[in-house]
Amino acid sequence: MRFDTVIRNATVVTATDTYRADVGLSGDRVSAIAAQLPAENSGRVIDATGLLLIPGGIDVHTHLDMPFGGTTSSDDFETGTIAAAFGGTTTLIDFAIQYKGQSLRQAFDTWMTKAHDKAVTDYAFHCIITDLGSAQLEEMGQLIRDGVTSFKLFMAYPGVFMLDDATIFKAMGQAAEHNGLICMHAENGGAIDVIVQRALAEGKRAPKYHALTRPTTAEAEATSRAIALAEMAGAPVYIVHLSCNDALDKVREARDRGLPAYAETCPQYLYLSIENFDVPGFEGAKYVFTPPLREKWHQEKLWQGLAKDTLQVVSTDHCPFCFKEQKELGKDDFTKIPNGGPGIEHRLSLVYSGGVHGKHFSPNRFVQLVSTAPAKLFGLYPRKGTIAVGSDADLVLFDPNHEEVISAKTHHMRVDYSMFEGIKIKGAPKTVYSRGRAVIDSGKFVGRAGTGQFLRRQAYSGL
Ligand code: URP
Ligand code: ZN
Ligand code: ZN
Repeated sequence: MRFDTVIRNATVVTATDTYRADVGLSGDRVSAIAAQLPAENSGRVIDATGLLLIPGGIDVHTHLDMPFGGTTSSDDFETGTIAAAFGGTTTLIDFAIQYKGQSLRQAFDTWMTKAHDKAVTDYAFHCIITDLGSAQLEEMGQLIRDGVTSFKLFMAYPGVFMLDDATIFKAMGQAAEHNGLICMHAENGGAIDVIVQRALAEGKRAPKYHALTRPTTAEAEATSRAIALAEMAGAPVYIVHLSCNDALDKVREARDRGLPAYAETCPQYLYLSIENFDVPGFEGAKYVFTPPLREKWHQEKLWQGLAKDTLQVVSTDHCPFCFKEQKELGKDDFTKIPNGGPGIEHRLSLVYSGGVHGKHFSPNRFVQLVSTAPAKLFGLYPRKGTIAVGSDADLVLFDPNHEEVISAKTHHMRVDYSMFEGIKIKGAPKTVYSRGRAVIDSGKFVGRAGTGQFLRRQAYSGL
């Protein structure tokens, strides 16, 4: 048998197994896994001794080329997927935004145009719904059939993205009927807005007030309400960017009752805290994203949530804005700082470092959190999210002992700072394949814009 590539002596790590094998790639796919594969006639032979071979990471929460807060996120689908690939992420699910008065199809078409000649790795879309009349409600079923099988709704950002409970409930009913999945931004936007207005009236304008005006109770209340609405609608619900123990408790209670409630957290909530605002001047704007940073003790609760399956996924909520000129839009008023932070590049390294080296969970659980559970929940499995004969050859050769200090000086995201500046990681991708093609080879980018494909996802079928 001839292979385009044979990876020899790999330690294959999936969500369930760890074993030594040779892995053969033919075209887009994994075509053989065996104790030893003949390499004589093969195109390329890679010796993976000492490295882990894991399925490509799947980041289900990114915002590339997204207009927000009076500006546009600074990574587009080319720079964003390149940075993702450097970090071992070979699939991302971004958000197509439906603006008021638009059809859902318009949102989908707009984001397809943004991505199609730029992405270097594969991508899919959720649809953010901001205006749900009867026509758009009807359209949800069609979008699911077209492979956009999940929808993000907001309980925050009144006047921009926020939907009322009746509309959320209707959307959940429709999702339940067509096997879609509702992803919820769970914060009580009404209460937060009152607290924000009070702070501004008291002259509190510095970046840290973004965090101080969004209490954990507002996140917990909305999480609980989202779960209750989903339960009444008979729908599954996926809580995005969960940041605190109060909200975690609500997800745990729901799951203990057997409800199909799921949640993700992000590396910023595992590594950063409210203490990051103790920096001079306007520097704190680097940490303005939503939900905000919490007190440090929440971090360990979130790690435990990942270990015990209260949390199923780690995504990034990558939404980069440069400090110069973009974050600076809010120099005199924290409500004008574009909300979001950059993180697409370091998710695998941060989760491996803190999760596996930090002794919170095994390498298999790491793979489950960054690749397999995202693939299963969002209709990409088994094409993505595992290493098996017939699966896409989205693969990462991962050095579990590589040490590095994260810095904006060396990262590949198109943004002028790092949220994780100075943090030491242990474990990093070396070589990354997207459908059998190397996109990162021993730390160098060797991919090409436009080679990433849109992925039509399957309907929700559980985890
Ligand atoms: O601050 C954030 N998270 N910006 C992106 C939009 C969102 O709510 O996910
Ligand atoms: Zn959100
Ligand atoms: Zn987001």
